[in-house]
Amino acid sequence: MDPLLRVEDIHKRYGTEEVLRGVSFHLDPGQTKVVIGPSGTGKSTLLRCINRLTEPDRGQVWLEDVEVTAPRARINEIRSQIGFVFQDFNLFTHLTALDNVRLGLIKVKHLGKKEATARAMKELTRVGLKDKADAYPAHLSGGQQQRVSIARALAMEPKLILFDEPTSALDPELIGEVLGVMVQLAEDGMTMIVVTHEMGFARSVADEIVFMEHGVIVEQGPPEKLFRSPEVARTGEFLSKLSELYGAEG
Ligand SMILES: Nc1ncnc2c1ncn2[C@@H]1O[C@H](COP(=O)(O)OP(=O)(O)OP(=O)(O)O)[C@@H](O)[C@H]1O
Ligand SMILES: [Mg+2]
Repeated sequence: MDPLLRVEDIHKRYGTEEVLRGVSFHLDPGQTKVVIGPSGTGKSTLLRCINRLTEPDRGQVWLEDVEVTAPRARINEIRSQIGFVFQDFNLFTHLTALDNVRLGLIKVKHLGKKEATARAMKELTRVGLKDKADAYPAHLSGGQQQRVSIARALAMEPKLILFDEPTSALDPELIGEVLGVMVQLAEDGMTMIVVTHEMGFARSVADEIVFMEHGVIVEQGPPEKLFRSPEVARTGEFLSKLSELYGAEG
């Protein structure tokens, strides 16, 4: 099977700080990769380089046979195939849940209003928010806002969704409802990269965990392998610290 995504030797520097120092990995269709690592290690920068919200200095990103990093890549079209879910939801506050989900369908995909509405309602239903279609973000809980943001990503029928700490701005009692939607997506065969500290989720859903530090991948592999017998001592150390803080039974 050909990988859906190939990230090859990505470098990114801000001033004198080398934030990404050669990051490479592949992602197969239907796979979920969880990215972990200390703060400031380049996790968000890596996700942003994948759809060029941040321009990498060096290296290549391929989505199937399309080079995302090619100078003449049709980046808007590519971005419509790569969903992005942000820590702080990034919803338009002056638009209802339905309009937030529908906007890209109308503006980017040029669907008619009726078709856009039908697809948006389908995705709002999928994340359990059919009844909140007419609510504005201010009247939704953080967990509900994040589910709207996931519905917005799904509505575009992306090949891949990138999640940057989707639950870390949420009160503990709201984290489960968002993780529940993500578990379902993984089971439905969505391809995802998820930056998260939620070790229970990582253990049960990730095909692979990627541990990053100081702008490089220290180690990557299936959760059982990384938790039970990591090859680098630092990986085990970091995982046990995370598990202590964020819980992962077993
Ligand atoms: N636009 C920018 N301009 C300058 N420096 C930046 C910019 N974005 C990120 N950085 C720096 O790059 C480094 C990596 O940041 P990044 O946000 O990718 O880390 P992270 O692993 O996502 O951290 P966290 O876990 O705190 O979210 C940090 O030192 C950060 O200050
Ligand atoms: Mg980050």
